[in-house]
Amino acid sequence: MLPVELKKDIFWVGVEDFGRRDFHGYSLAPRGTTYNAYLLKDRKNVLFDTVDAQAAAAMLERLEQVLPASKVDYIVANHLEPDHAGALAYMVERCRPEKVFCSAAGLKSMAGHFDISGWPVQTVQNGETISAGLRNIRFVETRMLHWPDSMFSYILEEKLLISGDAFGQNLASGCRYADETDRALLVQAIEEYYYNIVLPFSSQVLKTLDLAAELKLEPEIIAPDHGLIFRRPEDAAFILDKYRELALQRPRKKALVFYDTMWRSTERLAGTAAEGLDKCRVPCRVMSLKNHHHSEVMTELAGCGAVIVGSPTHNNGVLPQVSAMLTYMKGLRPLNRLGGTFGSYGWSGEAQKHIAEALEAMKVEQPVSPVKCLFKPKTGDLAAAFALGEQIGAALTARCRE
Ligand SMILES: Cc1cc2nc3c(=O)[nH]c(=O)nc-3n(C[C@H](O)[C@H](O)[C@H](O)COP(=O)(O)O)c2cc1C
Ligand SMILES: [Fe+2]
Ligand SMILES: [Fe+2]
Repeated sequence: MLPVELKKDIFWVGVEDFGRRDFHGYSLAPRGTTYNAYLLKDRKNVLFDTVDAQAAAAMLERLEQVLPASKVDYIVANHLEPDHAGALAYMVERCRPEKVFCSAAGLKSMAGHFDISGWPVQTVQNGETISAGLRNIRFVETRMLHWPDSMFSYILEEKLLISGDAFGQNLASGCRYADETDRALLVQAIEEYYYNIVLPFSSQVLKTLDLAAELKLEPEIIAPDHGLIFRRPEDAAFILDKYRELALQRPRKKALVFYDTMWRSTERLAGTAAEGLDKCRVPCRVMSLKNHHHSEVMTELAGCGAVIVGSPTHNNGVLPQVSAMLTYMKGLRPLNRLGGTFGSYGWSGEAQKHIAEALEAMKVEQPVSPVKCLFKPKTGDLAAAFALGEQIGAALTARCRE
């Protein structure tokens, strides 16, 4: 791809990673990803962020179509995770910048990743502004959104926010702008990214959105470090509203049932619980952990106000995929969910106790007792699984009306 001029003298110089499927070793990126980096040409030429180390040469080639690397005066490292700073040492070597800017916490991360002796690093304070000539750049610390080092760079005169991971999406589509892409696909990618990366930091998201308003940052263009750029004011407003909505996690009238099974008894209960939800007209998606990666399940949770978890008892506990899913989900700290659990057992039947405790630790409200059945479900067991779905569906419907 060629560099793309977002605004006069401001260029996208990132790299698309069409083939990437494993994102950071724990999440799926079904449509690949992009590492966005930006260049501002002014009296000082400023490079914002870099790319994954593997894409360093491709980025340099793109950058040099706009200007020789040696002409870059400043490099801003908004975030030091390797997908954005992996090529930082490579770029510092080629650009020989006058300054490398990062947050105070960024300095620690930078020193943890590179030998920075001899680098002209300058830390910036929250709210500090530097001049590039005709344009001024304000830095806004966004600690723990999603690393301690994370910050935004805001080009004041252009109302352009370079937002790091916030507002990003894993999308390598050949397009640069949100308005060039199907909206449903975009929303799916935003939710997937939020629910697998940003969710634990939802309170910081709300604080940052409020802070941005207080600082009178009224971005008309939002340029994240992954995926598509929101270049029209209405798209910038759209992504800010979407983030507020995702961070608030208000209940949504949809349910998720996920489970694993050995001999299919628990699977039978899953289908029956879904029928109970159906009776209350609560749409429900049933996901087998054999067919769905934990990050896909987490993405589905974005649209669901209830989550019902099934596992047979296996060696006095739950099946390993269920345990992994619950651990992953707990770390991502979803809020405001209703839920419950069900499963088959043969003699001791501890699985439901374990799941109920895990859900409790996530503050999932459980209005119905766990449903357990001895080996194959009989009529009474199926009725109990149906009632589990139905009662959770009714409770969710009431909650959505509040
Ligand atoms: C390897 C293995 C370990 C099991 N461990 C337990 C156990 O510790 N306690 C128990 O109550 N049942 C245990 N069971 C029995 C299962 O929970 C029982 O077969 C159940 O009906 C399986 O449900 P499913 O058809 O959903 O896989 C075990 C079964 C297998 C195959
Ligand atoms: Fe990151
Ligand atoms: Fe990232």
